[in-house]
Amino acid sequence: MNYKNILVEQAEGIALVKVNRPQAMNALNQEVLLELFSAFKELDQDDKVGVVILSGEGKAFVAGADIKEMLSMNAIEARKFGETGHVLMNFMGQMEKPIVAAVNGFALGGGMELALACDFIYAAENAKFGQPEINLGIIPGFGGTQRLSRQIGRAQAKELIFTGGIMSAQEAKEIGIVNKVFPPETLLSEVKKVAALIASKGALSLRLAKSAIDTGYNVDLKSGCSIERESFALCFSHQDQKEGMSAFLEKRKPAFTSK
Ligand code: HXC
Repeated sequence: MNYKNILVEQAEGIALVKVNRPQAMNALNQEVLLELFSAFKELDQDDKVGVVILSGEGKAFVAGADIKEMLSMNAIEARKFGETGHVLMNFMGQMEKPIVAAVNGFALGGGMELALACDFIYAAENAKFGQPEINLGIIPGFGGTQRLSRQIGRAQAKELIFTGGIMSAQEAKEIGIVNKVFPPETLLSEVKKVAALIASKGALSLRLAKSAIDTGYNVDLKSGCSIERESFALCFSHQDQKEGMSAFLEKRKPAFTSK
């Protein structure tokens, strides 16, 4: 499928999706949100794709929702815009394929929310994170008040959202937003390396691990363990479990076949 605002390439089980509006710092307008949603839906159904990487073209990952587009919105339009982002970002959490964010530059406002909707984030040393919406007279609207506080705790989230401040990749790593930081020139190859490692695992166990973690995160521990138990049991319904365990005992690499 051809897109106007995003680039999609695929090789060796890995799909790389890049937001491609560098002239506007990859700002998210309604059209970009819909294109991302459509691309992710397609990639999630594609058996040739094991892992998706999300990044940005140019010097930004995504510098937020499009301020030019939002300027003239009324409350009804703003609500619809927020909902389009929520539908996209909730879908990313429910996707069967893991998504890794490669944050190559500014990840501000809706851009930081988009990165937080990925399964985890690797960032370039010069990347910048922040929720500066308060400086525009608004609050985060693509899940920032919810995902950020679940990820780093309410007090850290409140400080970032109330001050509208910007933090470095290293600071973002220290408070648990970013997993690893790399020089800008090696970021993408490092993300591709981890994506290839993940893609070499069984698709079914990856899918079950992702859904057990994410579904279990929003319920009490006992219910979470119950979700884990059912998911664990389901692993034994596929040949991947026999293959993984036999390969270990036979001292060879497993060849997983689930799609
Ligand atoms: C629209 C944007 C934009 C944005 C940058 N641009 N960010 N356009 N929406 N979010 C445009 C600029 O207007 C400019 O266009 C061009 O991109 C280059 O940006 P500059 O500001 O000239 O670049 P630089 O000086 O390098 O500064 C980079 C920056 C800054 C620090 C990222 O652009 C910035 O602060 N951007 C806004 C960040 C922000 O407030 N994000 C939160 C948005 S609200 P021209 O035409 O002048 O060349 C949000 C809400 C989410 O995300 C929830 C919605 C429901």
